[in-house]
Amino acid sequence: MTDRYAVIGNPIEQSKSPLIHTAFSQVTGQDIEYTKLLAPLDGFAQVVDAFRAAGGRGMNVTAPFKLDAFAYATDLAPSAQMAGAVNAMKFEGDKVYAENFDGVGLVRDLAHNLQCPIQGRRILILGAGGATRGALLPLLAQRPAEVVIVNRTVAKAQELVELAQRHQTGRVPVHGVGYTDVAGSFDVVLNATSASLTAELPPLPVSAFAPGCLAYDLTYGKGLTPFLQLARQAGVTRLADGVGMLVEQAAEAFAWWRGVRPDTAAVIEKITVPVV
Ligand code: ATR
Repeated sequence: MTDRYAVIGNPIEQSKSPLIHTAFSQVTGQDIEYTKLLAPLDGFAQVVDAFRAAGGRGMNVTAPFKLDAFAYATDLAPSAQMAGAVNAMKFEGDKVYAENFDGVGLVRDLAHNLQCPIQGRRILILGAGGATRGALLPLLAQRPAEVVIVNRTVAKAQELVELAQRHQTGRVPVHGVGYTDVAGSFDVVLNATSASLTAELPPLPVSAFAPGCLAYDLTYGKGLTPFLQLARQAGVTRLADGVGMLVEQAAEAFAWWRGVRPDTAAVIEKITVPVV
């Protein structure tokens, strides 16, 4: 019997997850069906209940339901606890196992696809919202030399610094600053703000980009965002958006559900919108 999975969100029409998981199922020979589910803003639990009752095996969760899924889960993995949000669920009887694969997807894209290992590097992260929260521990686990979080609202950056210090096992220095206090230059500059969604530019000094650095926008499918444009004007030649992170987090979920990790390169190539 075909096992059923879905991605739930509102809106959901734009989601690439069915395309990605269907491609994964074809290359791995797994017999699954993967659909999109639109839930009303106040109807997350009802839609998930109905999907489970009909035999659904697992779900990806996208905006605005990552916190609803956090509340709905019965068993939260450390990644979900740390992120304070859930992006994948697995249903087994009464149990709802919950994970957040966004951070590990980002790290895998950086280290594996972009050949940009994190160890010993200086990392700058723009933004202190959910995306940064999810990425922080997986990045720290790679032992960078230093992580600086820059945010308009400095207190939110500092909260994440405290969270990181409580949870990280290593001793990586982590700092939270405002945009006018960004000092020095960084080997990897990650835009984890939501600014690219509205074509806005975080007020980052161009001195933050070290020669030869990677500028990475966690948004995907927007081409050359204002952040990537700034990086290019500053002479950065290594530019990437979050399409690889999207596909890698999907591969993590697929492996968690099905016990087999699909190859991601062909799918990344298929859905990439060139950033230059
Ligand atoms: P997400 O879950 O996508 O991270 P979020 O939790 O709403 O979304 O966080 C959005 C982040 O983008 C915040 O860090 C926000 O900065 P503030 O905390 O100071 O509001 C940041 N952000 C949004 N628009 C921005 C802009 N135009 N310039 C700089 N930062 C921006």
